[in-house]
Amino acid sequence: MLNRSNVGIFFDKTKGQLDTLFKEFSDKEDSSKYVIRKGSSKIFSNDALAEIIERESLNVNKTQIITVANQKGGVGKTSTVISQARNLSDLGYKVLVIDTDAQANTTRTLIGEKGEASLYDIIEGTKRASDLICEVRDRLWLIPANSDCSRIDMLLTDPTFTYNPASLIVDMVDGLEMDFVLVDTSPSFSSVNIASIASSDRVICPVPLAEWEIDGVEQVSKVVSSINARLKTDIKLDFLITMFAKNETTAYEQISKIKEIDGNLLNTLIPNASAFRKAQKSGMLENRGLAYKETLRLTKEIVVNCVGN
Ligand SMILES: Nc1ncnc2c1ncn2[C@@H]1O[C@H](COP(=O)(O)OP(=O)(O)O)[C@@H](O)[C@H]1O
Ligand SMILES: [Mg+2]
Repeated sequence: MLNRSNVGIFFDKTKGQLDTLFKEFSDKEDSSKYVIRKGSSKIFSNDALAEIIERESLNVNKTQIITVANQKGGVGKTSTVISQARNLSDLGYKVLVIDTDAQANTTRTLIGEKGEASLYDIIEGTKRASDLICEVRDRLWLIPANSDCSRIDMLLTDPTFTYNPASLIVDMVDGLEMDFVLVDTSPSFSSVNIASIASSDRVICPVPLAEWEIDGVEQVSKVVSSINARLKTDIKLDFLITMFAKNETTAYEQISKIKEIDGNLLNTLIPNASAFRKAQKSGMLENRGLAYKETLRLTKEIVVNCVGN
């Protein structure tokens, strides 16, 4: 479900076009299936959104696996996963978040506590993903993390343990019929992070301009290139500017440097906004305000990029 003005942002509709759309659904015989009026706000239901998504050819044909990675901490990985998971599920896409980080920040934000069981148990083979996923809200599920996740690398590097990095996540989510799988990672190039990258369609690397470190970003690019070369995969890398402040004089110079690195720079600039800090405590970003609007523009870019695949 999405309110009228947010539908306008995502589908790039003018006020007039939104009025026409809303009227079209309101005129249907079973209109309550499509549109809801709550006081002065007009809401498009999932059925209405599914129809618009179909018309705009924004359906994804197969599960899109996206790993959010940067070997630096505090760059906005978890915030990106949480805001995109929420926005995609609001639009009616089925979304699974996999938390691989033993710190379990994503898990705590989404379900208020660490997982009792976690991704560790799935990789160890004692639990299946379908037994362990928990529903966070409508169309949004989570495979939680807990401190056991710090031992996933021990499992993966054990000589008796065989696995194919390029299919670790693919096999895990097989049969779950998700539209998007978003993998949150710890700040490192651990084996589980490399395997998540290797089994992804895309990698999003958040880059905060406030704490600029071009070397780190180059490393992410090199990791993706070398996986693509070794495993003959075609994993796409997107850089995402986070914590963007217009008044920072060097910001545009820094952006032009990112453009020189192998990978695609996303157009959306996620602003530096206190709303993100609040969101990690309260569980979700408010669905209004500048920060939220930019996350919705980012959702559009991600969907368009995935539809092209
Ligand atoms: N765009 C932003 N503007 C301001 N603060 C942000 C933004 N994105 C994230 N933060 C805050 O910065 C801190 C680190 O973000 P987080 O998403 O947890 O990064 P990571 O997962 O890479 O460690 C958190 O306190 C978060 O609320
Ligand atoms: Mg994090």
